[in-house]
Order: sequence, then structure tokens, then C-alpha cells
Amino acid sequence: MFVMDTLKVNNNGNLELGGLDVQSVAREFGTPLYIMDEDKIRQNCRVYTKSINDYYGGNGLALYAGKALACKYIFNIIKEENMGLDVSSGGELFTALSCGFPAEKIYFHGNHKIEDELFLALDAGVGRFVVDNKSELELLNRLAVEKGKVAQIAFRVKPGVEAHTHEFIRTGQIDSKFGFTLETGEAEEIIKIAAALEGVKVVGVHCHIGSQIFDRAPFELAARIMLEFIADMRDKHGVKLTELNLGGGFGIKYTDDDNPISYDHYIAAIAKVVDEVCAERNIQRPFILMEPGRSIVADAGLTVYTVGEVKEIPNIRTYVVVDGGMTDNPRHIMYDAKYDAKLVSNPCGAAEQTVTIAGRCCESGDVLIRDIGLPKVKVGDMLAVLSTGAYNYSMASNYNRIPRPPIVMISNGEAKLAVRRESYEDLIRNDM
Ligand code: LLP
Repeated sequence: MFVMDTLKVNNNGNLELGGLDVQSVAREFGTPLYIMDEDKIRQNCRVYTKSINDYYGGNGLALYAGKALACKYIFNIIKEENMGLDVSSGGELFTALSCGFPAEKIYFHGNHKIEDELFLALDAGVGRFVVDNKSELELLNRLAVEKGKVAQIAFRVKPGVEAHTHEFIRTGQIDSKFGFTLETGEAEEIIKIAAALEGVKVVGVHCHIGSQIFDRAPFELAARIMLEFIADMRDKHGVKLTELNLGGGFGIKYTDDDNPISYDHYIAAIAKVVDEVCAERNIQRPFILMEPGRSIVADAGLTVYTVGEVKEIPNIRTYVVVDGGMTDNPRHIMYDAKYDAKLVSNPCGAAEQTVTIAGRCCESGDVLIRDIGLPKVKVGDMLAVLSTGAYNYSMASNYNRIPRPPIVMISNGEAKLAVRRESYEDLIRNDM
């Protein structure tokens, strides 16, 4: 009925998430408010961990891409679910270490890891450095040698497949700031260079072809290309790459126009290609990694706002203005992203008007949803924007010095604060 499959309507006619009345939770914690369903997050994690067992006989690891939503509460869930973690900055790494995340299951990403971050990661003993470029390789090697360590690395490779939602292309991908290009020989070259370095040991290759993808074909193609590369490196240079990381990117349902197939299906299809190419090229199946971010948290969360104004501009548009906006969800203004929304106390009411949900920033583009059909909306109503669990809190800002909302996690029928609301004091904490 709703784009989030765990969302329900309770006997009071209100939205219910994780067994709790969304309106009551929002009254208790105030709005704007992110609310997340912990059981759903765990359920999403288990699809991936199970598929590693089912399709790869346990010879692999699902990593959560922390950039989708990074905070201690989530990282603790990921730890408990026995997944690994993809971090893409020192800040994400620090958050993970601060909740005792096993360092060997942390994969350090990023196209420009700065020296302090590499220091932190080397000292912590992170499992893998996913090396993006030659300068980084040289720096990491130098730091590792200085510390008497050998960093286990994988190279980020551009396989020549780039996908966005329903489309994917096989050319033009060279123009990306991430990783080493395959076609030009750059990826091959760096593997030869790294083989001679003392401070690093190359164990694998990585690719990430895009995000919010609904099609299996680009993943299958990327897996094939990457495995061919692994086989070529063995044949040409005797280099044994034992790990293949296929990145993240599985799409989720934001609106009724999105129809993701189950992740298990993608993974089964990719595993088939992996086995085929390994047999064709006579290579041992590498340890397989994947890095879902959005598909772990997006459909487990919603954002509740209170309507502060309904501004009707006759014959033009009706703005429903809420107490949050681009500061807690910049995805519409950045990517023209589409969302669905429901009135918390009348989620199934028939649409009576088309409105635009606008935020409270001094910026005319500060819109959350353009042209959505809703029942009559009044000042004081609570509105829930759905599927906001990924890339909302993690991309939130303090523009206009608006404090970031808290995250409330519903777990076993109980609402727990996972991240508290920022205060005005928090906002001036770094001001001198
Ligand atoms: N692995 C790597 C190396 C990545 O760069 C990403 C996402 C992921 C995994 C996770 O991808 P996912 O499963 O979440 O699609 N801010 C944008 C999304 C940017 C994704 C960047 N990389 C958004 O709000 O749509």
C-alpha cells in the first residue's frame, strides 16, 4: 500500500511504523524528526548476508556503505549483523572505531584520502584500503613503510559501465574522478607498479557503477569485465587477485514509479555470471564483496514535519510549507529526486489537491516534493515524507543555522533516540 512496505495504518487511522503510532512518536520527540524501523534495517542486512551464504558458499562479505547513513547506532546494528563496513572518510572511520567496529572488516574508500586519515586507518589496522589513484598509492606505501606495516589494498577500477536508474552506458565512463581506467591500460599499469612496493599488498579490485539502479544487466556486465581483468592480470603478469568488490547501487522504491526487483534476484544473477567467467577463464572464484548503502536504510526511514503554512497562489501553485526542508533532505534540490508523502493522521485519504511541499530555508529552490496529490492540508497537520532513511541525515546541513533533526529508532515496539536534536549551542560550538 505504501512505498515503505513496513508502514501501516493503525486503528486510529494514523501511520504506524515498527508497531508505533508515528504521530505519538513525533509529538514526543518533536518535528522535524527522522524515524527509522530497526527491524527493517536488520531485515535488509540479512538479505545480503544470506545471499553471500547461498550463492557464494559464505566466501564473501557484504559491506554496508556508511555514507548512506552514518551514526553509531547504525554502525552497531551493522556490527551485530556481522557485515563489514565501507567508510569513505576519516569521520566515518572514527565513528566506526568509536563503536568498536572490528577494524579488519572496515574497507577504506575515497578518491582523496588525506594523510591524517591514512594514519588513523593504518594505526587502527583497517582491513582494506581501496586505492583510488597513484598519488594515494605512493603516500600509503610511504606511511606504511614508515610504520613497518603492509597495507592490504584493492584498486578502484572503472570497468567502463556506468548506470543510473534505468539506463546504463558502456562508454564515456572514463570521465569520472574515481579510480583507474581499464581500457587505457591505466589499471594494469598500477597493478604492475604496486607489485614492486614494500608497504602494500594488492589483493583485489573494486568497482562501483552507480546508484539507484533497477536493472540487472549493468551489474552482470561489470562483474564479467572485472573477472576478465583478474584473469588477464594472472595470465600477463602472474598477479593473483583474490578479491572482487562489486560495489553498491541497488535501487529502492521512492515512489510508485520505482519497481525494484528483490536484491536476492540481482545477487543470484551476478553470481551466475561470476561462476561462468571463472569456469571460462579457469580462475578460482575470488572472495566476493558488495557494498549496499541505500538499500539497507532508505526504506526503513521517514521524516515527519509539521505544516506551518498553506500558501495558495491562485491559478499557479499551492505551497505547503513545513518546518524542515533542504537542510534535512537536500536530494530534491540536488538531484531533482522524487519522494512520496502522506498526512500522518490521514494517510489513505483521497487526493483533493496538488501541492508543492516547501521547506523553510531562504532559498526558492528549497522544495521537498513538487506537485503531489494530497487530501486537504491544514496548518498544524503532520506530514511524513517516506523512504528518507538514506542520504538524508548523512547529507543534512546547517544552512541558515537550522539545527539537524534527531533520529529516533523504533526497536521492539520502543522508540529510542539514536541521534539527538542539535541545539543552538551545538551550532556555535566551533565559533571563536
Ligand atoms: N560503494 C561505493 C564505492 C560508493 O561510492 C557508493 C555510493 C556505494 C558503495 C553505495 O551505493 P548505494 O548502494 O547507496 O547506491 N548522494 C547520492 C548517492 C551517492 C552515492 C555515492 N556512492 C544520493 O543521495 O542519491
